[in-house]
Amino acid sequence: MGQHMSQVQTLARSLPEYELRARETLSAEAWAYFNSGAADEFTAARNVSAWQHWHVQPRVLQDLRDGHTQRQLLGRPWPTPIAVAPMAYQAWAHPEGERAMAIAACSLGCGFTLSQHSNTPLDQVSALVLPEASRGPLWFQISNGCDRGYLHELIVQVRNAGYEALVLSVDAPVQGSRDRMRELNVQIPAHLQTPHWRNSAPSNQGLCAGHVEHALRWDDVSWLQAEAGLPVLLKGITHPLDAQQAARLGVAGVIVSNHGGRVLDTQAATAESLPAIADALQGDIPVLVDGGIRRGSDVFKALALGAQAVLVGRPCLHGLAVAGALGVAHVLRLLRDELEMTMALCGCCDLEAITRAHVRPSSRLI
Ligand SMILES: Cc1cc2nc3c(=O)[nH]c(=O)nc-3n(C[C@H](O)[C@H](O)[C@H](O)COP(=O)(O)O)c2cc1C
Repeated sequence: MGQHMSQVQTLARSLPEYELRARETLSAEAWAYFNSGAADEFTAARNVSAWQHWHVQPRVLQDLRDGHTQRQLLGRPWPTPIAVAPMAYQAWAHPEGERAMAIAACSLGCGFTLSQHSNTPLDQVSALVLPEASRGPLWFQISNGCDRGYLHELIVQVRNAGYEALVLSVDAPVQGSRDRMRELNVQIPAHLQTPHWRNSAPSNQGLCAGHVEHALRWDDVSWLQAEAGLPVLLKGITHPLDAQQAARLGVAGVIVSNHGGRVLDTQAATAESLPAIADALQGDIPVLVDGGIRRGSDVFKALALGAQAVLVGRPCLHGLAVAGALGVAHVLRLLRDELEMTMALCGCCDLEAITRAHVRPSSRLI
C-alpha cells in the first residue's frame, strides 16, 4: 500500500506538468531529441498555441444520459477517439519503450501506432496488445524514403502480426534541420536497435545528397495499397489538394500532421490546416489530426473542426519517461477525462453531437 501510494504521488496533474517532470528525468540529449522541433521551432510551438485560438461554445440543457465517447472507424469500434502517434526510439525514454506505451494505450481503449523506427520488434508489441478485448486499433507506420524491396518484406510481417492498418508518413522524404540537436551534437545511443529500419544508400547527387531517390511518390500509393492488403492512411497531409488526391486514390483516411513541427518549420499549425481539409473532403474519407494536443478540450476542438480522431505524440513520451506504462496510461486517462468533461459541459452526449457550431475562432491574435 505504502509503495502504491508513493507511486500515485509521482503522477502529475496535467499534461503540461508531465512535460516539466520529463525534462527533469531525461538527459539533455534525450530531451533535445524528444522535444525539439525543426529550425526555429515556430511550427512546433504554434501547434500547441493554435488550439487556444479556438474557443469552445457550450450548449446548455441538453440530454446527456447514456453518453459515451465511442466511435466506429475503419470498420471497428474505438472506445475513445485517441491514439498514440508513431514515435521513434521510445526505449530512450524508458527501458520498456514501445511495450509500455502499447500496453498503456490498449488498456485505456486508445489506439497505438508502432513506428518503423521502433526499438521493439513488431510481433512482440502485437502479442501484448491483440488479446485485450476492449482495445483501440493497432497500426504500423512506415516511413517515406525507405527501400521498396525491403518494404515488401516488412509489410508481410506487419500483416502476419495482426496489425490493422498501415500509416504511410508522407511528410518527411528527408529529415528536417534540427538545430537544437545539432547544438548539443545529439547522437542516438548506439545500443538502441531499430529492428525494422534499413538504411537505403543515398546516391550522393541531387536534392539532399540523393536521399529523395527512395522517397515514395503518388504513383506508389496504389502499389502500397495493393501490397498491404490493409487499409492505408496517409500521415502528414496539410494541403487540401493533397487530401483530395488521396481520397481519389481510395486511401482509408488522411492524418493532418506536420510531424509535430519536427520537419519543415514555418508551416501552419494543424489546428489551422484542419478545417480546410475537412471541408475539401466533405466526409469522403476519415480525417484524423495530430500536433500540439495537450488537453481534452483540444481533442474536442479537433473533433468539432472535422477530425474523426486524434493522435497524441510528445505527451505520451513524457508520461513514459516519468513513470513508464503507468505514466502513459495516466496521460491518456487525463486526456480522456478532460474530453468527457468538455463534452458534458458543451452539451454533447456523444461524438456525433460535436459540431463546428461548438467552436469559434477567438478574436485574440496568436
Ligand atoms: C520523438 C518523436 C519521434 C517521432 N517519430 C516519428 C516517426 O517515427 N514516424 C512518424 O510518422 N512520426 C514521428 N513523429 C511525429 C509524431 O507521429 C506526431 O506527428 C507528432 O509528435 C504530433 O505532435 P505532438 O508531439 O505535438 O503531439 C515523432 C515525434 C516525436 C516527438
